[in-house]
Amino acid sequence: MAHGNGAISIKRLSGALGAEISGVDLAGSQDNEAFAAIHQAFLDHCVIFFRDQIMTPDQHVAFARRFGRISVHPYAPALPGHPEVMTIFKEKDDKVNFGGGWHSDMTFLEKPPLGSILYAKDIPPYGGDTMFANQYLAYEALSPGMKRTLGALNAVHSANAQYGVDGRSEASRNNDQRSMKPMTSEDAKAEMVHPVVRTHPETGRKALYVNVGFTQRFEGWTKDESRPLLRWLYEHCAQPEFTCRFNWAKNSVAFWDNRCTQHYALNDYHGFRREMNRVTIEGDRPR
Ligand code: SIN
Repeated sequence: MAHGNGAISIKRLSGALGAEISGVDLAGSQDNEAFAAIHQAFLDHCVIFFRDQIMTPDQHVAFARRFGRISVHPYAPALPGHPEVMTIFKEKDDKVNFGGGWHSDMTFLEKPPLGSILYAKDIPPYGGDTMFANQYLAYEALSPGMKRTLGALNAVHSANAQYGVDGRSEASRNNDQRSMKPMTSEDAKAEMVHPVVRTHPETGRKALYVNVGFTQRFEGWTKDESRPLLRWLYEHCAQPEFTCRFNWAKNSVAFWDNRCTQHYALNDYHGFRREMNRVTIEGDRPR
């Protein structure tokens, strides 16, 4: 395919999701045809990857803006001078990383992100991969009975377990296990209700939409009542056959569709530094 940026080629990474795109300069201004090809690949593959991209923070934000408004993380630190760019880092002596568990980004918001664009600045010599899981496949693999049951349920999401005053981030503020110190707040207790099965606003496909990071319970159920089914769903959602794994190099980019995937930043590179810039795009209210 010729697209103004040169020939775009798309190579799938696993049977479940993920494709690597080459022949695109994300810092440049893609013509409409190139942009349409990237957008379609994003919808088709749920997460797309690019290598060897040289982008300033402003160019990173400009590319993200072509997909929608920027969503600023309410708790995580921004790159100095660039409020729309989140900085994710783990220093060589840190033990705890950011995003080290299966989650979809910021599902505690009324309009959780459409997606995030993550750009590798400093990468350890090994480890520090990111895993992604396809939540369309997770939904489609359920029995008709379970689909019916879940289709009638909503779930309550909150940032409290991560960013509340008794949450994990507060614990890491008070020790030296993590240099990256997200803010914590009483506001993190706020709850937001979303359907357990959401319909993707662009593809029309159904995806499971609960995650261990932010889902608290089913609406109208207690936490104790919710726990067994949620636990089962969390295990189900992340089956190896629903996943792909991306091995970063400096200047690689991942752009995931937060409406139909979960991701997990692996923490297996102690003794080395890792630093990423992330720009996140606002989504719609899940339906
Ligand atoms: C995240 O955005 O959850 C972090 C992903 C990563 O650092 O690989």
